[in-house]
Amino acid sequence: MDHGMDALPQTAEPTEARASAQWAWALIQHRQTILPKRLTDPGPDVSQLDLIFRAAAAAPDHRELVPWRFVIIPMTARGRLAQVFADSLLERDPSATPEQLTDARDKAFRGPLLLLAVVRTGSPGDEIPACERLLSAGCAIQNMLLMATAMGFASALTGGKALQSPGLGALFALAPDEQAVCFVSLGTAVRSKSARQRPEPSRFVSFLAADS
Ligand SMILES: Cc1cc2nc3c(=O)[nH]c(=O)nc-3n(C[C@H](O)[C@H](O)[C@H](O)COP(=O)(O)O)c2cc1C
Repeated sequence: MDHGMDALPQTAEPTEARASAQWAWALIQHRQTILPKRLTDPGPDVSQLDLIFRAAAAAPDHRELVPWRFVIIPMTARGRLAQVFADSLLERDPSATPEQLTDARDKAFRGPLLLLAVVRTGSPGDEIPACERLLSAGCAIQNMLLMATAMGFASALTGGKALQSPGLGALFALAPDEQAVCFVSLGTAVRSKSARQRPEPSRFVSFLAADS
């Protein structure tokens, strides 16, 4: 767990800086995907969820556009989402079996807290392009996941082809310049999972060649 800690900068308050970095490292390492089918009650309560959304609001956001939003999908609304999942499967595969349709519907009911993340990707030529808006959304979502982790909740992001379906767009009243990017599920892990091996920085870090 102390991996990399020796590289910490020596500041005026070395002990405090080290403790903060260790805390942040432990939190980041602790977050892992626990899929919605393995999430149970309790999920965050109203005040915990408020803090989780405030963590989202701390994301970097060029020009402060707030180009993302989250729709809470309470249990009382999951039936319509289940229908969208089933309809979307049938559109893609008209020969889907009743079991496959039941599986598709069941996904809508998993996880005590379910959110849809929506990004306003904008139009070509906008000063803040879609890639920056999507990155900002990713930062907001990671802030939420880390805050939820700090509170003891488990979490997952899920995608799927239904996100692009016309039925989902209609259910969530997506504007023409909005995209549904993923679902965010939060709850309590049914059981713990072993930590995933993380890639070494050498796999994703390089130097730009020196000026000639
Ligand atoms: C936008 C997004 C969508 C995802 N959708 C799914 C999904 O539909 N099903 C799934 O099993 N995992 C999904 N994942 C989770 C990844 O599979 C998971 O993050 C990855 O395996 C790494 O595991 P970790 O989160 O525990 O580090 C998604 C992740 C992201 C970022």
